Amino acid sequence: MLEAETELLLRHQQQYTTAIHQARLQGEDAFQAWFNREAAKNRQQALCRGYWDWTLHILTPKVASYLQNPETQVALEIGYGGGRLLNAACSYFKRVIGLDIHAEAQTVANFLQTQGKTNFQLLKTRGKTIPVAAERLDFIYSFIVFQHLPSFKVFESYLQEIARTLRRGGVAQIYFGQFKNLHPIYQGLYFWQGYREVRAKNANQITLVVQIAKVKKLCQTLGLQVVETGPSYFCVPDGYPQKVGGQNYVTLRKP
Ligand SMILES: C[S@@+](CC[C@H](N)C(=O)[O-])C[C@H]1O[C@@H](n2cnc3c(N)ncnc32)[C@H](O)[C@@H]1O
Repeated sequence: MLEAETELLLRHQQQYTTAIHQARLQGEDAFQAWFNREAAKNRQQALCRGYWDWTLHILTPKVASYLQNPETQVALEIGYGGGRLLNAACSYFKRVIGLDIHAEAQTVANFLQTQGKTNFQLLKTRGKTIPVAAERLDFIYSFIVFQHLPSFKVFESYLQEIARTLRRGGVAQIYFGQFKNLHPIYQGLYFWQGYREVRAKNANQITLVVQIAKVKKLCQTLGLQVVETGPSYFCVPDGYPQKVGGQNYVTLRKP
């Protein structure tokens, strides 16, 4: 059983590492566009939309209401991709840690340096843990990543890691695949389970959707307070807030 899980994670990591490496070989515009194809076709657009996503999706009024003295705080992004959100986060916190499974950290570090950012650290993970000591992080966020996780077990593992690494009073803003987006037949079939996971044929496929109620229950058992939930929006700010996207978020607080 354990072996099957390890194999699944390894395959998942390989899929992403290969696809992202190939995007990098096609040049900087293709590399940056790979991580947010709906909103960005090149580096300049990725940078611009990174700021918009950071402002409207990550830094919600609820999140801001719980943060204090961010110039002294440490934030962490799960799945930093090409670094467009990390770039914005570096201007809002003392230090930002990026976590990803791909092998293009040097390309992302170069990109961030062209934006004058030096207060970051990029870490590689095998895809379900946060390699940081307990209670060190003030803010954790993730956008367009949890919907690509290979299994609900990995989702659970990341929430456990968030509960472990957040400081008391720390906040997390986590987006995940929307269960409501499933065809009604599948919603009925998977209703009692509370989530649906599928095996990925390619990187960037949506592989996991979870009911908000299921996430709330899980967070409660981990001692995390759910202080807000809500939807994502498509290609912000174009059409905002009419065009609802395919993710939901939970804003979490460690009491
Ligand atoms: C669609 S991109 C989004 C990147 C970034 N969050 C953004 O909004 O630009 C998804 C990213 O999640 C990463 N990823 C996928 N599975 C992961 C996992 N299990 N743990 C950490 N990162 C993961 C991928 O390598 C990729 O960089």
